[in-house]
Amino acid sequence: MFLKNAWYVAAWADEVTHNLQQITVLNQKICIFKSQSGDFVALEDACPHRKLPLSKGRIKGDTVECGYHGLTFDCSGKCVWAPGQGNIPSNAKVHSYPLHEKYGLIWIWMGNSALADHHDIFEIKNYNDPSWGINRGDAMELECNYLLMCDNLLDPTHVAWVHAGSFGQAATKSAPLRVKKTDDGVIVHRWMLDVEPAPFYKKVVGFKGNCDRLQHYEVRYPSNALIKAIFTPAGTGGSEGKLHEDVFIMDSYNFMTPVTESKTRYYWFQLRNIRPDDPELSQLMTDDVQHAFEEDQNVLNEVQKGMTNKTSPHIDLPIDAGQLRFRRQLQAMINEEVQVDKQMAQ
Ligand code: FES
Ligand SMILES: [Fe+2]
Repeated sequence: MFLKNAWYVAAWADEVTHNLQQITVLNQKICIFKSQSGDFVALEDACPHRKLPLSKGRIKGDTVECGYHGLTFDCSGKCVWAPGQGNIPSNAKVHSYPLHEKYGLIWIWMGNSALADHHDIFEIKNYNDPSWGINRGDAMELECNYLLMCDNLLDPTHVAWVHAGSFGQAATKSAPLRVKKTDDGVIVHRWMLDVEPAPFYKKVVGFKGNCDRLQHYEVRYPSNALIKAIFTPAGTGGSEGKLHEDVFIMDSYNFMTPVTESKTRYYWFQLRNIRPDDPELSQLMTDDVQHAFEEDQNVLNEVQKGMTNKTSPHIDLPIDAGQLRFRRQLQAMINEEVQVDKQMAQ
């Protein structure tokens, strides 16, 4: 089950061209392309006649021609030509999904179009601030349900085991977690004081010696995350109030798009508060993050198989508190949406 009235990432903007492409979001097949005028368009990928995917047809200017009998649709999904049929049948139309381009990503609204408001897209502080550098991320396919990745991004402890060579360090094995519910998600966070910087951060922080480290893991409904890392000289951390001048901050943005119940497309990029115009630093961080996310991918693909094929019950641990809270609230939102849909259908 998925929350439909929400924005999801459909693609990186530069992945979509003036060619028809099929993507799948929330189990729905979508034909996506860029119009001649440069607008992004997403149509239900099924001709209303015999359900040939429109992505198997042809793009003609700003219209899409079905590859079977030529019904032709404009960017709003309206049929504008029905060769040899006299009048255009009034029910010859396909759904057109609201899209919005933001942060180099194309966001798609999967629910009731009347409720789509692009101001509701995940807010990113500092995105256009020239004093912050960006590591342009990537996307990967996960062979798992999107909620397993949400769990992972509400779990600061896994870095000790999954990312021992990069984000993990001894303190991440046992420092206590704090869980906070917000209006639009859940945060699991902790400060670790007077600890050695983890290997990945040791290479990039601008100070020597021990640090105070914050792990802030936040997922907002339905499946968008901010993972904030703060490293500040030991003795200057413990709160996010006034930060030391040498503080290193990395905000990692992570967007999980459910493809099916057992497949997810995972998008990300990071912002950092140091050396914004240093391409070598960007490359180093991009490569290390990619490597770390492949470590997550390997674990989560196996967790999906393990949970699907389990022959004995699984257990929850105290470290799962934030994840369980997130899942409960998201399920309540989905249930409410289903109720509203049912009432509207009556
Ligand atoms: S299947 Fe598309 S026009 Fe016939
Ligand atoms: Fe991870």
